[in-house]
Amino acid sequence: MNEKKLNQISIELSSPPKGILAADESTNTIKKRFDLINVESNFENRRKYRELLFKTKNLNGFISGIILYDETIKQSTSEGIPFPVYLEKKKIAPGIKVDAGAIPITNESSEKITEGLDGLSKRLQEYKALGAVFTKWRAIIDIHTKNNLPSEHCIESNAFVLGRYARIVQENDMVPIVEPEVIMDGKHSIEDCYEVTAKTLKKVFNQLDFHKVFLGGILLKPNMVISGKDSDTQASIKDVAKMTVDCLKENVPNEVPGIVFLSGGQSNELATQHLNEMNKNYNELPWNLSFSYGRALQKPALSSWMGQEKNIIDSQNALFVRSKHNSNATIGKYSSEDENLSP
Ligand code: 13P
Repeated sequence: MNEKKLNQISIELSSPPKGILAADESTNTIKKRFDLINVESNFENRRKYRELLFKTKNLNGFISGIILYDETIKQSTSEGIPFPVYLEKKKIAPGIKVDAGAIPITNESSEKITEGLDGLSKRLQEYKALGAVFTKWRAIIDIHTKNNLPSEHCIESNAFVLGRYARIVQENDMVPIVEPEVIMDGKHSIEDCYEVTAKTLKKVFNQLDFHKVFLGGILLKPNMVISGKDSDTQASIKDVAKMTVDCLKENVPNEVPGIVFLSGGQSNELATQHLNEMNKNYNELPWNLSFSYGRALQKPALSSWMGQEKNIIDSQNALFVRSKHNSNATIGKYSSEDENLSP
């Protein structure tokens, strides 16, 4: 394992003023997104949409890396340049989602375990040859306070698998993004989210240690500590920032170079405001605090596009604007008034 190289990639991916664009939706997930705009999800439409995103002018001022899906990393621009090669030329690092999705953890359970360890090393070699320098694996942790969930079984099993994944990826000299996502759906309070996130992070870092993962060569991709989406009480931006930072300080070792949040279903603006608040008020933190957003970067681009050639520039402008706002949030320089400015 080349620790120096892994550390350098982790730092580059998470250093302000840049963050990561997650464009790694599985075929099932992108179909759901395309259904919302009445666009057929076929191979060519998916290619066209990803091409539009990647060709956004000056995206590399705000975006350090893009996470691709298995199909996407093998696709090319309309000129025939493979996407990972095109991105590298633009000085954007190509990454790849390597988990195979989540299945029920037992027959009776609503909880999930993420699959994909079998044959992982072989797949990594293929992705590396295509140009990927980093990877992502997402574990899903649901909160159901009434049913006493998440269970120890779910947290521990997912933490173990994240540890094993991270170790295999580093042995292939690629950076693993470790993503334990505590889902925001539900009526739970921000305190419940804090408790579950803290417990999950503790177990994840125990397992990373157990698997002898080099912490200087990973990125952590957590949820923010936030009120459940359907909770009657929604915590303020200040409280989300404070409780998220407290939870991370308590549970994330200083050696980790960067923490890149997922957006998890937050509105575009709130995802930016929360990140901004953290970087504005807490500047003595040991790690970079940045973003690795999917929906909160892509939503306006997708709805401007609507599958129409004539909307490509508008759609790219929409991605440019959200990327710029989130880039400003990595240095605590975003203001919600910026939403009214034109690109
Ligand atoms: P969201 O920002 O839409 O949560 O997606 C990030 C991601 O990569 C989930 O795995």
